[in-house]
Amino acid sequence: MTIKPLIILPDPVLRQVSKPIERVDADLQRLTDDMLETMYDAPGIGLAAIQVGVPRRMLVIDLSKEGEEKQPLVFINPEIVGSSDDRSVYEEGCLSIPDYYAEVERPAKVTVKYLDREGKEQSVEADGLLATCLQHEIDHLNGVLFIDHISRLKREMVIKKFTKAAKSKVL
Ligand code: NI
Repeated sequence: MTIKPLIILPDPVLRQVSKPIERVDADLQRLTDDMLETMYDAPGIGLAAIQVGVPRRMLVIDLSKEGEEKQPLVFINPEIVGSSDDRSVYEEGCLSIPDYYAEVERPAKVTVKYLDREGKEQSVEADGLLATCLQHEIDHLNGVLFIDHISRLKREMVIKKFTKAAKSKVL
């Protein structure tokens, strides 16, 4: 398994819309393993393939706490097929926007259809942190970042900060 470099804001790659996966094969399974290792190393609780530069509709999540047994989840071609009217607020962060956190309001429950790591059709009714995490990661597959859900002023401030940081690294 390999730890892959993370794509960081304001890299335009993060705005790409990822394409559906046509076949779940050994190469794809290797990518899911690399993504999990990259996420654990960061550490984070969710990672979309586009965040390691692969524009394919796939994401990994693990909400287990430190010291607990790992609970890796793999979602291939995930699709939100239902969401609740009631909403919840979580403070979100993102491995592509390091050390920045902001409260985001989203539907409290979602139903997601997807293929698992073996390519088998699955469906999950998620609430709590899993619901928020799934929505955050599925947004990535559509080129959407959690900062798109906060105020324009805050978003412009964080983009400016990361643009400046990226420039100083190049020079
Ligand atoms: Ni993210």
